[in-house]
Amino acid sequence: MPGYISTYTYQPAAGHVPQFAPRDYKHFSVEPVTGAMGAVVTGLDLTTAGDAAIAELEEALTDHLALMIRDQDLAPDQQVAFARRLGSPVPWPHAKPMEGHPEITELIQEPNDKYAFGGTWHSDSCSFERPPKYTMLYCVESPPVGGDTAFSNQYLAWETLDPALRDELEGVKCLNSDEVGYATVATSDEVMGHTTTTIAFDRDHIEEVLHPVARTHPVTGRKALYTNSSFTAAFEGKTQEESLPLLEKLWEHSITQEFTCRLRWKKGSLAIWDNRCCMHYATSDYPGHRRHMRRIVLEGERPV
Ligand SMILES: [Fe+2]
Repeated sequence: MPGYISTYTYQPAAGHVPQFAPRDYKHFSVEPVTGAMGAVVTGLDLTTAGDAAIAELEEALTDHLALMIRDQDLAPDQQVAFARRLGSPVPWPHAKPMEGHPEITELIQEPNDKYAFGGTWHSDSCSFERPPKYTMLYCVESPPVGGDTAFSNQYLAWETLDPALRDELEGVKCLNSDEVGYATVATSDEVMGHTTTTIAFDRDHIEEVLHPVARTHPVTGRKALYTNSSFTAAFEGKTQEESLPLLEKLWEHSITQEFTCRLRWKKGSLAIWDNRCCMHYATSDYPGHRRHMRRIVLEGERPV
């Protein structure tokens, strides 16, 4: 025996109950993607769906955290109209909106772009006082393969933490700052030079706010880990240097394989996810190809 020590640990089994027992949906079909989260929805036309179908869709979103709804054909106005049925679309201040549609941000990766917009693990805009509850993307054009959006279930991330660490983190807040993520993006010629989406970032108006490390979902009442390397600067009352050792441990845990799924895009698919209980990551694996999405975010509440 050469006497090596093991440098890995196994993740205990973890799963999200609704993935294994979808409701008896009456207005569409739901196919869960992994044991952690995510589902593909078919058999629903968002332009003609009645109120009962939309209410059921929101239940599916609450259960599965992220939905990929196939086979839609949505003009920008129709996408906005659908978004309004789930909440209030809010403009996103860091990019120029689509001409004539202040609620829509177009996310376009050109074939020569080096970096994908959203290509880090994050929950959208968690440096805002009231981060968006839902984000929706409508796929206008997708690469032939690649460009999946990956997701991670943060209920599972919180619930599988060591109980002693959970106790330690109970009630603790983190400072989430635009400066952590957007400032790097907005000031790096290399990133900006190869990313089509314009990010308007004003160094004199940095958004930052304290949010709980674990937030309670207003509908399910469950707690979800709510910190990520794209926005979190430090624990309240501590420096970034003091905070990073534990934060990095949490960030690594938060993207454990068993918590994740990947949703594959097709032209005409619309994805919606719940930023209050999952993180996402735009996979940049389609060099030489174009990807075009229309994004709308819906107003959320202050995390508690
Ligand atoms: Fe995002």
